Amino acid sequence: MDLNTEKTVYSRSEEETEKIASEIAAALSPGDTVLLRGNLGAGKTVFSRGFARGLGCEDTLSSPTYTIVQEYQLPSGARLYHMDLYRIADAASALGFGVDEFIDDPKAYKLIEWPERIESLLPEKCLTVEITHKGDEERSLRITP
Ligand SMILES: Nc1ncnc2c1ncn2[C@@H]1O[C@H](COP(=O)(O)OP(=O)(O)OP(=O)(O)O)[C@@H](O)[C@H]1O
Ligand SMILES: [Mg+2]
Repeated sequence: MDLNTEKTVYSRSEEETEKIASEIAAALSPGDTVLLRGNLGAGKTVFSRGFARGLGCEDTLSSPTYTIVQEYQLPSGARLYHMDLYRIADAASALGFGVDEFIDDPKAYKLIEWPERIESLLPEKCLTVEITHKGDEERSLRITP
């Protein structure tokens, strides 16, 4: 997928969102960061699962209640960090658990749910995927370089 210009794509199922995510993953490189914006239940974790699968990750990506950062080892040797910052109050408390070390890892793909919690710490160059609920199973994904 060409990620150099802003575009909006539509999904009609969980599977379709996973497929879009895996295509995006294939167009990125280790070190890249994807910000996942959208309301509760929009599909950010579903997207993350498809992204991980697209990179050949065999582990099932989930969102455990008390884990903020989940690390996955990819077959390529790169890592993937899946961060869910919903329960993080602000940038200061994120620094308290060392969020900057994950964000600055040049060999890891980063997926960040609820990036609005740490707006001041985000890298300059990120891909933003904003997922909007359009219906039961319909979602729009606005992809911004
Ligand atoms: N087209 C679609 N794409 C993604 N998810 C969909 C779609 N249609 C229905 N769903 C459902 O929407 C829900 C999305 O849940 P998910 O956990 O991914 O949301 P989230 O954005 O990560 O929420 P949270 O902010 O709570 O972490 C799932 O139950 C999924 O089955
Ligand atoms: Mg989630």
